[in-house]
Amino acid sequence: QDALYEKIIVEYEHLIKTLPEGKGWLFEHICNYNGFWLGPIMLKNVLLLQSYFKSQPSDVFLASFVKSGTTWLKALMFSTINRHRYTISDHHLLHHAPQTTFPNIEVSFDHTTDLTHLPAPRLFHTHLPRTLLPPSMTSCKFVYICRDPKDVLISKWYFMNKIKSKDLAPLSMDEAFELFCQGVSEYGPLWDQALQYWRASLDSPNKVLFLKYEELKKQPEVELRKLAAFIGHPFTVEEEEKGVVEGIVKLCSFENLSNLEVNKAGSNDYKVAEVDNSLFFRKGEIGDWKNYLSEEMKERIDRITNEKLKGSGLIL
Ligand code: A3P
Repeated sequence: QDALYEKIIVEYEHLIKTLPEGKGWLFEHICNYNGFWLGPIMLKNVLLLQSYFKSQPSDVFLASFVKSGTTWLKALMFSTINRHRYTISDHHLLHHAPQTTFPNIEVSFDHTTDLTHLPAPRLFHTHLPRTLLPPSMTSCKFVYICRDPKDVLISKWYFMNKIKSKDLAPLSMDEAFELFCQGVSEYGPLWDQALQYWRASLDSPNKVLFLKYEELKKQPEVELRKLAAFIGHPFTVEEEEKGVVEGIVKLCSFENLSNLEVNKAGSNDYKVAEVDNSLFFRKGEIGDWKNYLSEEMKERIDRITNEKLKGSGLIL
């Protein structure tokens, strides 16, 4: 096992010196690995995941591009799967940040991580594109959430500038815009990642559920029912009558979560940075990009989106 680890580290050190390098939003440099931009820690952990992560058929993954609604969906998935463990008035989420309810694999996993004690179904989160995941993982269920790239850009720019080291200069909006359009940001390009999960959802609808932030905002109960049925925990008639769906939606709403003490004042260590929980809750709106992007910038992103997604059936 040590020999395998040593081999991976040698490979990592070789890759980090030879892969194309770009400017990171959080890290000083990111590198392009098989078409996607990753920070150094992510690259190393991707290589470790490929060899060490042992998925179980009952595992459920939440996959997302950064700033697309991960926090929200984590809260919804966790409370749906665990709805018999907690009452709404005494809920785990009232005292714990949604981000901590289940781990992100490329940040928290390495060759020493033991995940066998976690009860089934194990829940995991990833920002990785499908093509960088270990092949065995792709037979598990995935819930993917995507969002209007323009809102993702603003949300990501705000968040990364907040959490990046004070030793590094903040990224200007203009620079962030240019890099984003070129796909250069941690886990980018957004469009290529979304397309991979979109195509997988068309090929295997019982394995990949493709959700949109905007739909979740417009009709949360409808989307939550879809989610529950997909992960094998559909709401029963009795639960519907008792208002369980509405209860979970309300518990996980931006208004409720963002006003909880734990999310206003707490923080957590995510290995790459210590992050205030409040940073995961900014505005939670559709279309805030209008306050930041010019008409010309809007058109450029929309043009890229249309070109990238042309013929796929996916509309963002
Ligand atoms: P904004 O920056 O546009 O407000 P992620 O969780 O993937 O990091 O995404 C963060 C974005 O989701 C932020 O968007 C945040 O405000 C929003 N968000 C967080 N919790 C939410 C919730 N419960 N409902 C709706 N939006 C939420």
